[in-house]
Amino acid sequence: MLSRLSFGLLSAIPLARCIAHAPLPSLPEDYDVLQYVDPLIGSANGGNVFAGSSMPYGMAKAVADTDSQSNQGGFTYDGSNITGFSSMHDSGTGGQPSLGNFPLFPYASCRGDDVNGCTYPKKERKTTYAHNSVKAQPGYFGLTMTSGIKVDMTSAHHTSLFRFQFPAAGAGVGNQSAPLILLDLTDLADTRQDNATISVDPESGRMTGHARFLPSFGSGSYVAYFCADFRGAGEIRDTGVFVNSRASAGVNDLTISRSINGYPLPGGAFIRFHSSPDNTIQARMGLSFISSERACRNAEAEIPKFDFNATHSAAVDAWRKKLAPIRVSRKGVDRSFLVNFYSGIYRTMINPQDYTGENPLWTSTEPYFDSFYCLWDSFRSQLPFLTILDPESLTRMIRSLIDTQRHLGWLPDCRMSLCKGYTQDGSNADIVLADAFAKGISDNIDWEAGYRAVQRDAEDEPYDWSVEGRGGLDSWKRLHYIPVEDFDYKGFGTMTRSVSRTLEYSYNDFTIAQMARSLNKTDDAEKYESTSRSWQNLFREDQVSYVNGSDSGFKGFVQPRYLNKTWGYQDPVICSNIDTSGRACSLQNNAAETFESSIWEYQFFVPHDMATLINLTGGPTQFTHRLDYLHDSGLTYIGNEPAFLTVFQYHYAGRPAKSTSRAHFYIPKYFNTSPAGLPGNDDSGAMGSFVAMTMMGLFPNPGQNVYLILAPFFESVSVTSPVTGKTATIRAVNFDPTYRDVFIQSATLDGRKYTRNWIGHEFFTNGGELVVVLGRNESSWGTGRGDVPPSLST
Ligand SMILES: *[C@@H]1O[C@H](CO)[C@@H](O)[C@H](O)[C@H]1NC(C)=O
Ligand SMILES: *[C@@H]1O[C@H](CO)[C@@H](O)[C@H](O)[C@H]1NC(C)=O
Ligand SMILES: *[C@@H]1O[C@H](CO)[C@@H](O)[C@H](O)[C@H]1NC(C)=O
Ligand SMILES: *[C@@H]1O[C@H](CO)[C@@H](O)[C@H](O)[C@H]1NC(C)=O
Ligand SMILES: *[C@@H]1O[C@H](CO)[C@@H](O)[C@H](O)[C@H]1NC(C)=O
Ligand SMILES: *[C@@H]1O[C@H](CO)[C@@H](O)[C@H](O)[C@H]1NC(C)=O
Ligand SMILES: *[C@@H]1O[C@H](CO)[C@@H](O)[C@H](O)[C@H]1NC(C)=O
Ligand SMILES: *[C@@H]1O[C@H](CO)[C@@H](O)[C@H](O)[C@H]1NC(C)=O
Ligand SMILES: *[C@@H]1O[C@H](CO)[C@@H](O)[C@H](O)[C@H]1NC(C)=O
Repeated sequence: MLSRLSFGLLSAIPLARCIAHAPLPSLPEDYDVLQYVDPLIGSANGGNVFAGSSMPYGMAKAVADTDSQSNQGGFTYDGSNITGFSSMHDSGTGGQPSLGNFPLFPYASCRGDDVNGCTYPKKERKTTYAHNSVKAQPGYFGLTMTSGIKVDMTSAHHTSLFRFQFPAAGAGVGNQSAPLILLDLTDLADTRQDNATISVDPESGRMTGHARFLPSFGSGSYVAYFCADFRGAGEIRDTGVFVNSRASAGVNDLTISRSINGYPLPGGAFIRFHSSPDNTIQARMGLSFISSERACRNAEAEIPKFDFNATHSAAVDAWRKKLAPIRVSRKGVDRSFLVNFYSGIYRTMINPQDYTGENPLWTSTEPYFDSFYCLWDSFRSQLPFLTILDPESLTRMIRSLIDTQRHLGWLPDCRMSLCKGYTQDGSNADIVLADAFAKGISDNIDWEAGYRAVQRDAEDEPYDWSVEGRGGLDSWKRLHYIPVEDFDYKGFGTMTRSVSRTLEYSYNDFTIAQMARSLNKTDDAEKYESTSRSWQNLFREDQVSYVNGSDSGFKGFVQPRYLNKTWGYQDPVICSNIDTSGRACSLQNNAAETFESSIWEYQFFVPHDMATLINLTGGPTQFTHRLDYLHDSGLTYIGNEPAFLTVFQYHYAGRPAKSTSRAHFYIPKYFNTSPAGLPGNDDSGAMGSFVAMTMMGLFPNPGQNVYLILAPFFESVSVTSPVTGKTATIRAVNFDPTYRDVFIQSATLDGRKYTRNWIGHEFFTNGGELVVVLGRNESSWGTGRGDVPPSLST
């Protein structure tokens, strides 16, 4: 059972009392961490984060939407114009902008006091805003439009609350006497399908309706429902609907086509008020995937009295509680490092989204999470981070994944808006489940069902493996690699990525083997351990690589291989950051044999058997040179997730100091606290978790009970396990906030000498103190043969 005792233990005032009366390990000073959360980080330059108001894992996500051409999570802080204020979003998206359904848009009045004097289509109504008016905090977002209307918003789990403050009458910005708010049946990516509806009750002003939309990186479609209520000090003047650029009061029901030209045809409803002394109108937007009635019930239950302050306070409290388990010492550290760290943590709890009770697809008592966008990104450090900081929610996500497999047949690799998302490479839910399993996450999880779910990935090929499972399983089982130009008549997906799929399937199998081992399924364990070695079948010992026209000097790279076992060829530089070939590298039919990354980078993706990889590439010294070359030559780019683990793989060559150097090479240079501060799209909170875990000084090898030890970016980091209430502290002796003395000279764990350069999750569950003594130069700490993390072959 989960103990909730520790929740709130570290929040505000109770802390001092706890310390005074209990012999707990010494914790860093208490302070409100929310002051260091800046939701605007990653809101420009393609970070695509959701910068608005949300509860942790909330379904309602309120923010201003812009017309930026990126795949934004609603708002972009880049001067793009505001098209409306909508209530559902994904964060850090890559494929297309996601959600952004049913935006509201306010006017202080319409020209000529005629509803047709207001502008309805979003392409025409879009507007600038006062750049320095933007205010974003956990549970709050606000800005002032050029029209002078101040809009701010907060949210409960399924409901947003907007507050429109109109300029005082006579302020010279138009006729203030008849504020109008429209609700547009649209979404960010303009995907609305046929027969959207909206109805306005002219008495109460309540608007209800629904529309069908398309997911942003997946197949199928979804229907979203809303229930909007308005409160203004003034009386309702009139209500009506609009279609295209025309509106009429008195018509209160609309069913609208997608239309064939200029689609989707603009349409929606409006409500107009008589002027009121305080010039404020609130809009409460209830959401549901079940029905409008449900959306209304959600809204009435969550924000019964339109109390902005109470709703805001509840959101702030929820965030404070979520971030409570982790505290770092602020001593000497520049504020920007604290902001980087806590904002990164914050973003790990925006997506996935908890849609429990809102799943129309099947009936179940299990939790339902959505917006796993995508597991290929979040398996690396985001979901592992949640095993530490929020195991209760992570447990519910795992149950949801298993339940999804139970009802849809396969685990997702990506999932959004109730739809199957596109699989990027492997079946990486296997890693997610195995990671949680290896870390003892167990509360109410049916691990036998979890095991059957991952095993299905390894054994059965789905008809459509572009959205679930794996392709090419006949070849995989016969040849033990995925051939380039495979023959596969049993299932269908893009026949590319043979190299990266081989590497990922190999690791997926290893994580399944580990689960099998612990569940005493010894035969399965041996089988999947064996198939986890399949990556070696693509290792071509004599392959060389020319970079910018000269021989890189490294020999031995993975390469594509045909069905007849002869070698194919892909230049190891293709799809790297310095590839100028123009080759497609994503899910296109003509894309490369590696997904969104090069052979240069993918060859390091052997998280389970680094010892064999190091041996094949010429031993630890050569391997270290190769990893240096990857990072120094421009081949890799930290803005995409395959780069993450390569920052730390020096540990396996007995060079943990080099991992620490690399960590400082990337942070803060590539991750800073400005809106443009992320090197790539956040992918839910993948980038955020990279920052958080790197700075805390422990980075996971996901899917294994292994955290690689680095010097933390703070003098101390303490995490109180929300499950056991025990506190794990990493403390740096000789901490240098200028980050010159960052190399571990020696370490102790609970007072005993500790030379291994890695540690298990027990550290967090059982608590303890890991003390690292820092110095200016690399030392012999963690460099011995017995100090490196385990590999399959050792
Ligand atoms: C925003 O809208 C204004 C006024 O319509 C226009 O001048 C400006 O170019 C737009 N900005 C962007 C970034 O599109
Ligand atoms: C302002 O609104 C009032 C009604 O509320 C109307 O009589 C008047 O014509 C409007 N003025 C302008 C300039 O639109
Ligand atoms: C939209 O509604 C019309 C009229 O009821 C119906 O004929 C049509 O099939 C509907 N379209 C869809 C996509 O459901
Ligand atoms: C709510 O109002 C109280 C009293 O005015 C104030 O102290 C508190 O900070 C407000 N809460 C928020 C989240 O604004
Ligand atoms: C596996 O077997 C060991 C040794 O017999 C036993 O202690 C353990 O409880 C078993 N684990 C499971 C999950 O059955
Ligand atoms: C194997 O197949 C490839 C691709 O079809 C072909 O180019 C190659 O010649 C074949 N090799 C042999 C030995 O048949
Ligand atoms: C690889 O392992 C083999 C067998 O243990 C050993 O003989 C060989 O020296 C190793 N090669 C390197 C480069 O470490
Ligand atoms: C290759 O060229 C690119 C682009 O000019 C440069 O950024 C990179 O550093 C070069 N790498 C090597 C190893 O020469
Ligand atoms: C660190 O290494 C440098 C260069 O090898 C050396 O000059 C210096 O004395 C060393 N510093 C310490 C504190 O050992």
